[in-house]
Amino acid sequence: MIKTADLTKKYGDMFAIKAIDLQLDEGDLFGFIGPNGAGKTTTMRIIATLLQPTWGEAYVCGHSIYNNAKEIRRLVGYMPDFFGVYDDMKVIEYLEFFAAAYRIRGTERNRRCEEMLNVVDLDFKRNAFANTLSRGQTQRLGLARVLLHDPQVLLLDEPLSGLDPRARIEMRNLLRRLGGMGKTIIVSSHILPELADICNKVGIIDRGVLSVNAAVGEVMKKVRQRVVLNVSVSEREGEAAKTLEAHPLVERVESGDGQLVVTLIQSAEDYWELNQLLVSEGYKVTFFGEEEVNLEAAFMALTRGMGEKI
Ligand SMILES: Nc1ncnc2c1ncn2[C@@H]1O[C@H](COP(=O)(O)OP(=O)(O)OP(=O)(O)O)[C@@H](O)[C@H]1O
Ligand SMILES: [Mg+2]
Repeated sequence: MIKTADLTKKYGDMFAIKAIDLQLDEGDLFGFIGPNGAGKTTTMRIIATLLQPTWGEAYVCGHSIYNNAKEIRRLVGYMPDFFGVYDDMKVIEYLEFFAAAYRIRGTERNRRCEEMLNVVDLDFKRNAFANTLSRGQTQRLGLARVLLHDPQVLLLDEPLSGLDPRARIEMRNLLRRLGGMGKTIIVSSHILPELADICNKVGIIDRGVLSVNAAVGEVMKKVRQRVVLNVSVSEREGEAAKTLEAHPLVERVESGDGQLVVTLIQSAEDYWELNQLLVSEGYKVTFFGEEEVNLEAAFMALTRGMGEKI
């Protein structure tokens, strides 16, 4: 459905994306995760044929971006991370306008618009002016718009950002449903945990490099593997950090909120000796415990350049 090979975009000497290889099949819901500037939007815009790569290949349903852009645009629904709506259009008119642009005609046009309003749960705003919608409602309108022509492939750039917790859940359910309909979907986000339970595949991109690209279960297993400890000492925190950092079980020590956050190396589980070490060196340990599995923290560690290891 979507395939890229060595896909690369350079701006001057800078690689916005570097040698991205993707293979997504029908029904795949791919979580495309990475921090600001990682290359998510660039990749999606190239697949949507809105941006030319510097080199490399991208195919959508077997069509090359180089010579079948028209066909690809028919197959793809691309929802940008930021889009404006027109001031003087009502919600339903906005959809009708785009349906017309997609050449959906006659009664089918109206039927399709109403149906999509219903899918994204915006019926109650059908006669509101589009520019009066809240951020989350605007996102949903944007999704309705890209669904109008029933695309086989959806490229959704941060559709969850700016949504309140309830709207997030609803949007995630909607994405899951669309995946269940056999569409191939790329959803980008800054944070893995918010997508982990709806995606079947995950890619983590950082500074243009896709460092992780695997089934979601596999990625989560690796992410969860690292034990993180919270340690507090009543004084000499900086020295304690250095002591811990020098220990072979310790991957990294950070300080924050009056305590040390100690990430152990992968596979390390038995860590009592770290406590003993601190005590034997005269530190007054006021707290020593394992942090609850914090997916977000683990994910941050992954995107901090450790991705190659998993
Ligand atoms: N037109 C451009 N000219 C120069 N550099 C650009 C251009 N567009 C993007 N870049 C650079 O390419 C890199 C990737 O940008 P991109 O927008 O793809 O990141 P992103 O992962 O979508 O980030 P965000 O999470 O902030 O949306 C960034 O370093 C960005 O500054
Ligand atoms: Mg972006």
